[in-house]
Amino acid sequence: MLGCAGVFVASAVSPCVVTAQVKTEPAALYKDAAVPVDRRVDDLLARMTLEEKIMQLCQYTAGGNTNENNVEVKADHPLTSGSYIYYGTDPGFRNRLQRRIMTETRLGIPAIFAQDVIHGFRTIYQIPLGQACSFNPGLAARACAMAAAEARRSGIEWTFSPMVDVARDGRWGRISEGYGEDPYMNSVMGAAAVRGYQGESLASGVSVAACLKHYVGYGASEGGRDYRPADISDRALWNTYLPPFHAGVEAGAATVMSGFNDISGVPASANYYTLTEILRNRWGFDGFVVSDWDSVRQLVNQRVASDDADAAMLAFNAGVDVDMADGLYADYLARLIGEGKVSMDRVDRAVAQVLKLKFELGLFDNPYTPEVPAEERVLTPDNRRIALEMARESAVLLKNEGNLLPLAGKRIALIGPMADDGAGLNGNWSCHGVAAETVTFRQALTRTFPATVYARGCGFDSISSAEISEAVRAAQEADVVVLCLGEMPKWSGENGSRSTLSLPDAQERLAAEISAVGKPVVLVLTSGRPLELRRLEPMAGAVLQMWQPGTEGGTALAEILSGEVCPSGKLAVTFPYSTGQVPIYYGARPNARTGGQGNYQDIQDAPLYPFGYGLSYTEFSYSNLRVSAPAFTDPALPVEISVDVTNTGRCTGKETALWFVSDEVSAVARPVRELRHFEKRELQPGETATFTFSLIPSRDLPYYTPDGEPVLEPGRFTVSVAGLSIPLDYTPAH
Ligand code: GLC
Repeated sequence: MLGCAGVFVASAVSPCVVTAQVKTEPAALYKDAAVPVDRRVDDLLARMTLEEKIMQLCQYTAGGNTNENNVEVKADHPLTSGSYIYYGTDPGFRNRLQRRIMTETRLGIPAIFAQDVIHGFRTIYQIPLGQACSFNPGLAARACAMAAAEARRSGIEWTFSPMVDVARDGRWGRISEGYGEDPYMNSVMGAAAVRGYQGESLASGVSVAACLKHYVGYGASEGGRDYRPADISDRALWNTYLPPFHAGVEAGAATVMSGFNDISGVPASANYYTLTEILRNRWGFDGFVVSDWDSVRQLVNQRVASDDADAAMLAFNAGVDVDMADGLYADYLARLIGEGKVSMDRVDRAVAQVLKLKFELGLFDNPYTPEVPAEERVLTPDNRRIALEMARESAVLLKNEGNLLPLAGKRIALIGPMADDGAGLNGNWSCHGVAAETVTFRQALTRTFPATVYARGCGFDSISSAEISEAVRAAQEADVVVLCLGEMPKWSGENGSRSTLSLPDAQERLAAEISAVGKPVVLVLTSGRPLELRRLEPMAGAVLQMWQPGTEGGTALAEILSGEVCPSGKLAVTFPYSTGQVPIYYGARPNARTGGQGNYQDIQDAPLYPFGYGLSYTEFSYSNLRVSAPAFTDPALPVEISVDVTNTGRCTGKETALWFVSDEVSAVARPVRELRHFEKRELQPGETATFTFSLIPSRDLPYYTPDGEPVLEPGRFTVSVAGLSIPLDYTPAH
């Protein structure tokens, strides 16, 4: 550990243990807000000692985070640290620490305070996997902007979000934190999140720096087990896992976080090819890379580093600028520089990026957070409204036999472990969400359906005959059962891998007992992953996937069950028929055999619910698919493809048109179809609207070679929407 200019005890801001030698610097250029950022950075860098530079590349915790995996709070923190993971909600605490940093260190370089604001700071909204099912990136951006405002006004300037890891294995708990199985979905939603978090200016009092994570390929962790290796071909890297990060960089993300996984043997946190050649040299990323928690030290576990010093050298030289939590840069960078294993130029470039962000965040000019009462900064009515909107639009109606839903004037038996659990609705990575502030299903349904009778029926994974009997009695006395099953928050998220997508036996047993009563059952699901529902689905007349909808989850459910809101979500991740099908996703390459050969012998080949599936209380018909020109020669010119969509049902509803492209023959096998556009609109009963995909061939049709070159081959493409398809031929102009 380097000598410190001053220290503070993490648990409280106490008098400095080591008296700092404080000298007053003459008014310096870097302190002049009128000077351009790049000149302020250069001026400050020139004044810094090696020790001060290295400390800017170190991130410690001030209190840790909510992830029990990571609570390793270091006893002392140098006041010269560049950033902190700050697990606090009081701007006053943060300001007291920042004031010591500004006044007790030689140059007064403010720290950045960061937190995992993944789907809300205090007002919790839908988990990202659920947000993707809303197919409403504008709403997702608004939700992120709301979270940014709550966080920034509470002392946080940097969030470790959005996660844009394409994930196709629901056993992996972190599938909940990204936008599902499709690269395009993760690209569009991730870019929207970046714009929402960062707003018009990072220096505004309501924006935070975004962080694209976990770069790259974490979602391919073997067997869905966290922290495991990921075998990813260069072709898959460029066509599946990199595009969402590229979209996020294009959207202006300030930072990127390197992942825990290896990429075909080269750890993501020591991978020069991805961190420097691609991210910086190919894409021109103008921010900095922070490691994941301890992912520098974990290079020793991954047996690519012989010791901690070796790990620090490998990570830093590969392109990891800031070291999170393990302190290895503080311990070894100076020595590595002295040994010629790390260059000062590399150090200066990394430090310059950190300082640049601090200037852009306005921290040198306004280092302190305005200290306003919590009720003015968090959980405001407007914030709750945004959370409610997202909960409404992300709910996916998977089954509605005989239009069981909506329920009107029915006596409801509300049963299940998720029926009255605010924490369960807030889900994993719920930051400062307070379960008691979340509207539970029970609270909302009791308001909307006063005759509701509640009986828990069982625990998450425990059951008793007494509870079963009570629930059966409630069902017998009711017209309809609303059965709320699902996952505990910690069953998904980090280190939340599960060997099966099934719900616990206790919950399936409860469902069977309730089903045997013979009343109609509405199955309401709360989960952070796609579930195996093949035994539960037949027991229910209706199935509604709510994901982990957050603070207003109960309100949204009541509005949907009563018919006040028409469900409009569609799946952004496939629901397998069986866990044994995993990985199963729509964007797979072709089967070499047709006619069902190669399918499992013991179960169906199709998933239970495919990507893009979702019902409404109304119906929509698609017709008149047409294209501005059936062939093109100039790939830069847009081709307009349109379809008419009619609301043929009985109520107003929102429909999302999903547009896919297919390359009929190509030099390498490609996914049978690939999502390249989507559009969601509300239609009144009887209304017809034209949905248009302005396809740009050079953007929407190529695939990438293993070294990242886009290739658009001549020949026949097919564009499809809602089962309709139209050919499109490319003949290059001579
Ligand atoms: C965790 C997670 C990462 C998070 C970081 C800081 O281990 O992998 O997503 O942002 O540590 O809490």
